[in-house]
Amino acid sequence: MINRSTKSVSLQRSREVVKSFTLTPVAAPARWSIEEALRRESPVQGLFCVAKAESEIGGVKIPEGARLVVMYASGNRDEAEFPDADRFDVRRVNARMHLGFGQGEHFCIGGALARLEARVAFEILLTRMQNIRLAAGKNDFAHTPSFILRGLKKLHLEFDACLSPIERWTAEPLSAKKIICSENI
Ligand code: HEM
Repeated sequence: MINRSTKSVSLQRSREVVKSFTLTPVAAPARWSIEEALRRESPVQGLFCVAKAESEIGGVKIPEGARLVVMYASGNRDEAEFPDADRFDVRRVNARMHLGFGQGEHFCIGGALARLEARVAFEILLTRMQNIRLAAGKNDFAHTPSFILRGLKKLHLEFDACLSPIERWTAEPLSAKKIICSENI
């Protein structure tokens, strides 16, 4: 159950996320914000594994054969690695160091594809939509009830449509095009 204060913090943070995301094309390449989203949201929160050998993590002894839940989401909010870790910050220089795709020999084999899909999708969307904002009063930010996966059940956004680069080009008066062409020559 979400209490009021948690909900308002969540709402405030979501506003910040939407705001910095819409600033992305100007502020930083789209891929930075994808990395930061993977870090902050950690779509795969954690997975189960078995310790192959006795080891120690942060002073805690892990016996051989122990069943563990490795929480990538926790590592991704580690203040020692990512200061002000709850903040969605597209300018974070080490955003790509996140554990969103795991680490080591089982590192997500689809990571490169997922990154490419997200980049293509956002680059196209951001050429067609501007002033992206949360739809007032329509979002409760409820997440799907899952221990492993993290994702909103729904997200209502509003935006202003804008012309694609091709449409902008064809809509321009011919004289303007001529000027651009002659400047380029
Ligand atoms: C945002 C999208 C995705 C996220 C957040 C994600 C996350 C993860 C994580 C955390 C692991 C575990 C890594 C570890 O144990 O260290 C994993 C493994 C894996 N992922 Fe993904 N994944 C994504 C997309 C994909 C896609 C698109 C594919 C396939 C096309 C894919 C295929 C796999 C496979 C096959 C493994 C197992 C690798 C192994 O055990 O060696 N994933 N993924």
